[in-house]
Amino acid sequence: MDETRTEAGAPSSAQTATAYGQSPPVPVLPPELVDPLRRDLSEADYTVEGITAALGDVAAGAMMRGDLVPARRVIAGQGGTPLAVLLRLFALGDAVDEEALATAFPRTGAAGVRRVGLVAGVDTGVVATCDLRPYGDESATWWIASDLGEITTGRPLHPDHVLGVGGASLTLAAWTPRLPAPRVLDLGTGCGIQALHAAAQAQEIVATDLSERALAFAAFTAALAQQRWDLRRGICSSPSRPASPTGSTSSSATRRSSSARVPSGCRSTSTATAGGPATRWWSRSSAGWAGI
Ligand SMILES: C[S@@+](CC[C@H](N)C(=O)[O-])C[C@H]1O[C@@H](n2cnc3c(N)ncnc32)[C@H](O)[C@@H]1O
Repeated sequence: MDETRTEAGAPSSAQTATAYGQSPPVPVLPPELVDPLRRDLSEADYTVEGITAALGDVAAGAMMRGDLVPARRVIAGQGGTPLAVLLRLFALGDAVDEEALATAFPRTGAAGVRRVGLVAGVDTGVVATCDLRPYGDESATWWIASDLGEITTGRPLHPDHVLGVGGASLTLAAWTPRLPAPRVLDLGTGCGIQALHAAAQAQEIVATDLSERALAFAAFTAALAQQRWDLRRGICSSPSRPASPTGSTSSSATRRSSSARVPSGCRSTSTATAGGPATRWWSRSSAGWAGI
């Protein structure tokens, strides 16, 4: 296999910069490619445990903190295994050639990966159009799609950037009680991480976001997890008092609140659960201050 970039520590921005002049289209996963893609990712061991085992704790930990140099060195020594190709594409932002792509996706096929929109062509091969990372809990492994970060592309984020899993996502996931519920509302779903968790406790997931791009990534994440979510564009004006998940039938869920107003610059995310009768529900939310 002929990788277009194998040098440890080589900057990853040169080719991706051309490819990412503006936000690329969000991948769409057709039903017939769900199983092949899941099997390709699983069989490559593209899981949290598989990546940690392949890179070692130090390089894997550095990669989680946004330092790609140790991971790049380790991956350069691993030849063209499917896992190494997946890491080059989605973690390092490297271009890989057609042969490498076919090696990493034997069931989906290079044509299938292009059809889904996970890669885009550049002079030297293909680059990833999005971040696709394994994520999981004790009972499941999922893959979460979001926009590539600036460390990977070497470019500033676009205004419509959809964040992947971050520290606040993990904190909210850890804080959220997993009580059985008929229906869970994930406000500000972003890449869909909270909805993924909620699916284990709820019969029905309603996930909203003000960003159409976020909803498209959440749809991809849900499809790859073989989950069905009711995705709706909606704007919540207060993360501390989210709309009741019951009784909403419109395609867009909007809430206006005169109290507990969200100061400008406050980014929020929230999960609310209907706990039984239509009037009973609880919520967990997190908020972070931007621009302070
Ligand atoms: C930081 S991300 C969090 C995503 C995900 N819930 C998580 O835990 O990682 C916040 C998301 O909330 C959405 N959002 C921000 N303000 C919102 C609002 N007022 N109404 C609906 N969605 C909002 C953003 O578009 C973004 O996708």
